[in-house]
Amino acid sequence: MSIPTGPVDLSLLPSSSVVGDDGRLTIGGCDVVGLSEEFATPLFVYDEAHLRAACREAVAAWGDGVAYATKAFLCVAMARLAHEEGMCLDVSTGGELHVALIAGVPAERLVLHGNNKSTEELAAALSVGVGRIIVDSFDEIDRIERLIADPPALEGGPEDAEAPVRSRPKVLARITPGVEVHTHEFVRTGQEDSKFGFGLASGSAARAVERLAALDAAGVVEFVGIHAHLGSQVFALEPFAQAIDVLADFFAPLGLPELVVGGGLGVAYVNGEQAPTMAEWAESVRAACRRAGIADSVRVTAEPGRSIVAAAGVTLYRVGTVKDVPGHRTYVSVDGGMSDNPRPVLYGSGYEAFLPREADALRPVPIRLVGKHCETGDVVVAEGYVPDDLAVGDVLCTPVTGAYGHSMASNYNKVPRPAVVFVADGSARTVVRRETFDDLVRLDV
Ligand code: LLP
Repeated sequence: MSIPTGPVDLSLLPSSSVVGDDGRLTIGGCDVVGLSEEFATPLFVYDEAHLRAACREAVAAWGDGVAYATKAFLCVAMARLAHEEGMCLDVSTGGELHVALIAGVPAERLVLHGNNKSTEELAAALSVGVGRIIVDSFDEIDRIERLIADPPALEGGPEDAEAPVRSRPKVLARITPGVEVHTHEFVRTGQEDSKFGFGLASGSAARAVERLAALDAAGVVEFVGIHAHLGSQVFALEPFAQAIDVLADFFAPLGLPELVVGGGLGVAYVNGEQAPTMAEWAESVRAACRRAGIADSVRVTAEPGRSIVAAAGVTLYRVGTVKDVPGHRTYVSVDGGMSDNPRPVLYGSGYEAFLPREADALRPVPIRLVGKHCETGDVVVAEGYVPDDLAVGDVLCTPVTGAYGHSMASNYNKVPRPAVVFVADGSARTVVRRETFDDLVRLDV
């Protein structure tokens, strides 16, 4: 059994992690304390082999069409990696679309999401020819119809003006099946009361499908499937099966070739937690599809984000102050905080912290790990434990920070965002450079 004052569970660390006889941690063959010296702190470190293996596992479990949800972590190198390993990419804004295209991912491997896609975003997606558009509202159907009937001259020179809006995009309708999952309410999306998709119970799903089928018949779009996303950081597989049960009666008569169950597979963040594997998730969804009589010919896929990148990444911080508040607690302050990991503040998420110079050490000392921002809520680990020789100047590591950390990072208090390095085979490469103070004023006019 895991106890909080024991060493960090090695299963939480990226897969190429090795703790040497001297207790020092290496990831991808790189000494972690050494990385903090070479690249400074705070620093996001990703294990490239872990990332690649996770993508391959997703493709093996779901088959072609499984998409990496880029919102979890996106930069040019990550987009390329996911594409190289055979995943499609789910992009949910014009910005994510731009990064994926800049990375050289072919447009047909992209899936466009979003509950409020602007006309410009849709026009861009149509003109490059994204592989799928997940339709989320009646307003969006109107916009797509208008854009295809009357392609706009895109902004820019005469060349751009001639850029064609490609005809007949493949579209899926996003349905909210009315299934609630046990996760933080901010990341629950499958319930009827949601800003996402078309509700099944209210009849709007039926109306949306009717309109898309009519547009398909008119040759405007190719209506290929149904999409449902229940929520994120979901540990139980039952809600996915339940969603299939609920959707099956609606889906089967449509005779559509594609069904997407969204993302949401949970990951272990702290000692003792356990999450299903990608293969278990896919198998349980497929079994539910078989039980519900969904034809084998239907392409059933998913859009994992967190489960691809979370455990592949760690954050390195340097300890700046250690303050005992008698009768209360000890505060350990590091050089980052809510600007590089807002999840504890937003969702009350828990993390482990340990010293990579002695990764196997017991952690008997209770502390609160906090950042350098000007508010009390700036907590990285609310109830943490550290080794008794932790000292100012030490490098602390928080594992499982590869998802929704860098991607939700901010410049609060004008703290520059950390660099991101990928490590593999004993070498480290910067994939996102650290922001400088000059970057903090680059948009000021
Ligand atoms: N597909 C759709 C339509 C989504 O909205 C999401 C996540 C995903 C796939 C990927 O879900 P994942 O496999 O990563 O759970 N910032 C929050 C998570 C928000 C998730 C939003 N949508 C967090 O830090 O926990």
